[in-house]
Amino acid sequence: MPIQILDQNTINKIAAGEVIERPASVVKELAENAIDAMATAVTIEIKDGGISFIRITDNGCGIDKGEIPMAFLRHSTSKIKSVEDLMCVRSLGFRGEALSSIAAVAQIELITKTKEAFTGVRYVIEGGKEQNMEDIGAPDGTTFIVRNLFYNTPVRRKFLKTATTEAGYVSALVEHLAFSHPEVSFRFINNGQNKLYTSGNGSLKDIIYHVNGRDIATNLLEVSAKTQDIQISGFIGKPMISRGNRTYENYFINGRYIKSNIITRAIEEGYKGYIMQHQYPFTALHFTIEQSIIDVNVHPTKMELRFSQNEFVYDFVLNAIRNTLSGRELVPEVRLSRSENVPVNKTRPAEPFEVKRMAAEAEKDKKNSTAGLTAALAATGHTLRQAYVSDTIRPKQLREDPAEYKTTAAIEPSAAPAARPPEAPVTETLQKSASPAPEQLSLITPDDTASIPKPVLVGQVFDTYWIIQFEDKMFIMDQHAAHEKILYERTMHRLESGSIDTQIIAPPVILSLNMREKEVVSQNIDIFTRLGFEIESFGGNEYKVTGMPATLPSLDDRELLMDIIDSLMEEGGASSKPELITQRVASMSCKAAVKGNMRMSFAEAQNLVEELMNADNPYNCPHGRPTLISMSKYELEKKFKRIV
Ligand SMILES: Nc1ncnc2c1ncn2[C@@H]1O[C@H](COP(=O)(O)OP(=O)(O)OP(=O)(O)O)[C@@H](O)[C@H]1O
Ligand SMILES: [Mg+2]
Repeated sequence: MPIQILDQNTINKIAAGEVIERPASVVKELAENAIDAMATAVTIEIKDGGISFIRITDNGCGIDKGEIPMAFLRHSTSKIKSVEDLMCVRSLGFRGEALSSIAAVAQIELITKTKEAFTGVRYVIEGGKEQNMEDIGAPDGTTFIVRNLFYNTPVRRKFLKTATTEAGYVSALVEHLAFSHPEVSFRFINNGQNKLYTSGNGSLKDIIYHVNGRDIATNLLEVSAKTQDIQISGFIGKPMISRGNRTYENYFINGRYIKSNIITRAIEEGYKGYIMQHQYPFTALHFTIEQSIIDVNVHPTKMELRFSQNEFVYDFVLNAIRNTLSGRELVPEVRLSRSENVPVNKTRPAEPFEVKRMAAEAEKDKKNSTAGLTAALAATGHTLRQAYVSDTIRPKQLREDPAEYKTTAAIEPSAAPAARPPEAPVTETLQKSASPAPEQLSLITPDDTASIPKPVLVGQVFDTYWIIQFEDKMFIMDQHAAHEKILYERTMHRLESGSIDTQIIAPPVILSLNMREKEVVSQNIDIFTRLGFEIESFGGNEYKVTGMPATLPSLDDRELLMDIIDSLMEEGGASSKPELITQRVASMSCKAAVKGNMRMSFAEAQNLVEELMNADNPYNCPHGRPTLISMSKYELEKKFKRIV
């Protein structure tokens, strides 16, 4: 499309406003133009925080010589033609404002060449006034050099921070750009030093590794979910790599780095119960959303958008996060040092602490047709075809490999009717097998769970940690965190089924509350009742507590109640949202949980392990601390140099 000036009607519809605030805004606009120009490589160079010098080079389509002056006029764009196009913008730019805004407050030199042109063009424009245009030799693509930002608007220049701070903003921006377009190779140079280079090979994980380092890159869970209008792909961090602020909570919508309350809330809600309060997850998620259900024309910087179906988007994201978190191994592994590399275990053993989930999935799979199975297989990187082929070609090995066997059994009706040898019943195969089962063990039927080897409790160290052996792994359980988790889940289940018992306390506890505390109690009286409390006004500032929830071991009743009231107050206290109840339960069970170095008998610990195996989420206490860590036999043998 040629560059042209938009008509007044379209101009009026565009969210207008000042977009150039600082060097990072210039970099954002120019780099987005490069991406829109289909560049596969973009180099961003700044000096002095970008205040004195910014150079952005791309290998994109270039600008036609005849269109260059037009590109610097307000409302001139090649990306949309009319109001109707605003409804389905696919490019990052569409307002036709960026170049004119930058040109107005800086000195710009542009060198550009289209594939069709014989020579390139050099164009200079300062403070919005054209200075020079000449033909020069240049490679295909475009280079913008922006010098002395705000040289003619000293007041705005005063608002800039130090060069180091401004460089930090640019750096963060470049990281977001790299995340949002893994298929583009980005290079960032600050004061002559290479700061970031991405290969443009399309791998989001490689970018996470480059930008965030090994610790984060090795603790990711892959997210993949799809409906008719929305698709999510990318990675989220395991709960243990959560942070104290939202810097690592990033997502991209149709290739744009965006902030959306709906999506942020859904992500954080999805992590509830997995990470502590005031901790935030790592996310790098790509959303592909049908253009017709979003509106990007909300804010001049295009950093916000609107959905036409908020609730649908929220639920979809929440479920995608929850499913990902609940469906994977979340036990932090004790890692070997760099030199002792662990071979990639293609048939990762199923987690012993996932009995419940596996049984539930098996139930689900039983009900589902082959389509459901295909999805389950796809999630583990297998296709139906693979399963079928491996089954028919290697029947002998299959008999020894319970999980593959089950995979086959489950697809039997439509894909491999004669595949299962009649003389080998499923349970027998499982019992005989000593080898760890691959991931598809999640397809087992509930009956089979009985024959899964049980974890063996070995003993306790430091009065707190229990050693458990299971198959080829050693687990270490923190009794405090595990107990806390169990109490939490017990209480949650009772709460959900409305069967919390009340334990009468006599004599009643009398609480003296101030005005705000009273307000919180009366506003949330429903929550208290549902949790099993019996509280009534006792005149004036006094409240009488005659009943406490029976789930929890005896505690200082008054302290517990005040703790709950305090935390309700901290959050404003006005609403009785179910998630508030969850948090209260979490804090109650935490209070009630056995203390770190309190003695626990062997039998009690054994019960704890068993209960933990059946927990909805065995891996973290309600405040996000891990309940288990693990080390494989292989890693131990490596450490003792039995294996070299
Ligand atoms: N690096 C580039 N390569 C090729 N063409 C470019 C490049 N940068 C700008 N252009 C052309 O210049 C036009 C004006 O750019 P400008 O950034 O001002 O507006 P826009 O990208 O269309 O909209 P927005 O203001 O939302 O960014 C673009 O529409 C595009 O045709
Ligand atoms: Mg633009």
